[in-house]
Amino acid sequence: MTEIRDAATLDLLRRRRSVPPMLLSDPGPSVEELDGWLAIAARVPDHGKLAPWRFLVIEGEARGRVGALIEATFSADFPEADEKRRAQERQRLSHAPLVVAVVSRAGPHAKIPEWEQVLSAGAVCMNLVVAANAAGYASAWLTEWFAYDRRVLDALGLDPAERIAGFIHIGRPREVPSDRPRPDLDQIVTRL
Ligand SMILES: Cc1cc2nc3c(=O)[nH]c(=O)nc-3n(C[C@H](O)[C@H](O)[C@H](O)COP(=O)(O)O)c2cc1C
Repeated sequence: MTEIRDAATLDLLRRRRSVPPMLLSDPGPSVEELDGWLAIAARVPDHGKLAPWRFLVIEGEARGRVGALIEATFSADFPEADEKRRAQERQRLSHAPLVVAVVSRAGPHAKIPEWEQVLSAGAVCMNLVVAANAAGYASAWLTEWFAYDRRVLDALGLDPAERIAGFIHIGRPREVPSDRPRPDLDQIVTRL
């Protein structure tokens, strides 16, 4: 029989699921705890050692500042929107105590396909999710419209070639919703 060396990790990966930001509450991680997660997140396969990703840490009052930016951009496009709708946009990043934006810096390279750089950013997101969940928090990996809005990206300081791989919302789960259906292995596995 194969020896199971890390049953806790397998158990975490087997049961982890996202928890919506509205169900994520304080307290967030300490600076040391977050730095530990970011180091884990950056420890991913990375063809060519390009580190084609970086992080924006959005916590505390920064969540409101970025929220105001999101709302202003939304209101410029939808000036007729009522206060309730505007407040929804303003609070986009304010539910969980911490949001980490994973920024992909993938681009053309002489040897390393851009696709592989993009995949590496996805791995960064997932490592961050797993690290936070292993530490007893819960998370949601979201993008939403503002991850694709150039005005918002410019204001966040992203270069034109940079993209958001995900906003990872992290906090203590107030409740954990029931799981969604997961893919049937018969549908996705081909044995050659
Ligand atoms: C790159 C990426 C972006 C996503 N963006 C959104 C989003 O904007 N809105 C949303 O409702 N779900 C989004 N999702 C899906 C959520 O993560 C969703 O809740 C997910 O299916 C939960 O899966 P899990 O329980 O295995 O974490 C995104 C997922 C990925 C991988």
